[in-house]
Amino acid sequence: ARTVTRTDTGAVSVGGLDVRALAEEFGTPAYVLDESDFRARCRAWHQAFGGEADVFYAGKAFLSRAVVRWLHEEGLNLDVCSAGELATALAAGMPAERIALHGNNKSTEEIRRAVGAGVGRIVLDSFQEIVRVAHIAERLGKRQRVQIRVTVGVEAHTHEFIATAHEDQKFGIALAGGQAAEAVRRALKLDGLELIGIHSHIGSQIFDMAGFEVSARRVVQLLADIRDEHGVELPEIDLGGGLGIAYTSDDDPREPHEIAASLTSIVTRECQAAGLAVPRISVEPGRAIVGPTAFTLYEVGTVKVLEGLRTYVSVDGGMSDNIRTALYDAEYSVSLVSRASDAEPMLVRVVGKHCESGDIVVRDAFLPADVAPGDLIAVPATGAYCRSMASNYNHALRPPVVAVNDGAAKIIVRRETEEDLMRLDVG
Ligand code: LLP
Repeated sequence: ARTVTRTDTGAVSVGGLDVRALAEEFGTPAYVLDESDFRARCRAWHQAFGGEADVFYAGKAFLSRAVVRWLHEEGLNLDVCSAGELATALAAGMPAERIALHGNNKSTEEIRRAVGAGVGRIVLDSFQEIVRVAHIAERLGKRQRVQIRVTVGVEAHTHEFIATAHEDQKFGIALAGGQAAEAVRRALKLDGLELIGIHSHIGSQIFDMAGFEVSARRVVQLLADIRDEHGVELPEIDLGGGLGIAYTSDDDPREPHEIAASLTSIVTRECQAAGLAVPRISVEPGRAIVGPTAFTLYEVGTVKVLEGLRTYVSVDGGMSDNIRTALYDAEYSVSLVSRASDAEPMLVRVVGKHCESGDIVVRDAFLPADVAPGDLIAVPATGAYCRSMASNYNHALRPPVVAVNDGAAKIIVRRETEEDLMRLDVG
């Protein structure tokens, strides 16, 4: 479904549009998002999970009203983790029953709004929250569908900050020490809650399915324990998000149908062994859906050759539009997209315009040796966790998200303006 090609002029086009024309019309830096690719990925996930509405797109990766409409049209559900994401989802018409609310410290107000709106599920993350959600639901005269998020104690092989299933961390309730079983006991007693399942999210940017296998096995074991103790079989499990994407050519991601097949077969096998009916399985991919669908278009401002050391190519954005390199040592690639070049590839560091030396976009990259001010370069795979984690550092104006589709481009999130900055600055 990807529509990125190099045209006869040597420039790159996406969705049928030349990047030079996009830069002209929308300015740089800009996130350019391929809507047809986004929709195709939604459909691939949807179909992989049997066409049931069991794929919850993780809004934290990137959320806007247009995205919510696309998800809705393609049959996906939505995972939100704040009042802001919930408000965006509802404003764009996502039916509340297709929304799941997450978070390790949801405010009372967030819970009230979610329950009041009638969200399909709230994922409970602590003992306090079990009581809190139950009370709010009771007060609103509702019975809220909930899952309990457990930490299964597996080490996902990813960056420490984005691994979430080992026990020493802030999310979820540990299976170890009977904590999760105790959480289930309490939840089952409360009238305000309808416990529909167990949730586990082991981390992010993961390629190895082994972690998911262990997680699925342990979750099914908990379902069996619940059946033995309470005589109820919970109907759902959610195995979270976290599927990795290719940032560089070294990465080798799985296709949604392979992931679905492998998760379904593990859960089925374990359930058969335990004599349980196979529960409905849901997942929450964020990065795997939106990550590959966008690139960041930058203009080169300066090229500084430090003889014997390194060449720095500075662009007109940086850590304010992509914090991932500085924060996680994330790897990206980069291409010259405004023209063809026969020059030899040269090892460079692509840096931003912010006032610190950690402001690196791509640590080590090859660009043609004749790269020069005025060239446009693109960093692929910036659809996830770039706009959504963007900042105003140095009073940078956050870039727009331009959606391209079939020869047309439209702004779905506009560029910030100085007036936007001033509006908040009321001193
Ligand atoms: N479900 C839950 C409960 C999550 O916490 C997350 C991500 C997801 C689903 C979606 O994970 P994904 O499929 O996108 O990997 N800012 C970091 C990633 C943080 C992920 C947080 N939780 C980054 O830029 O790599």
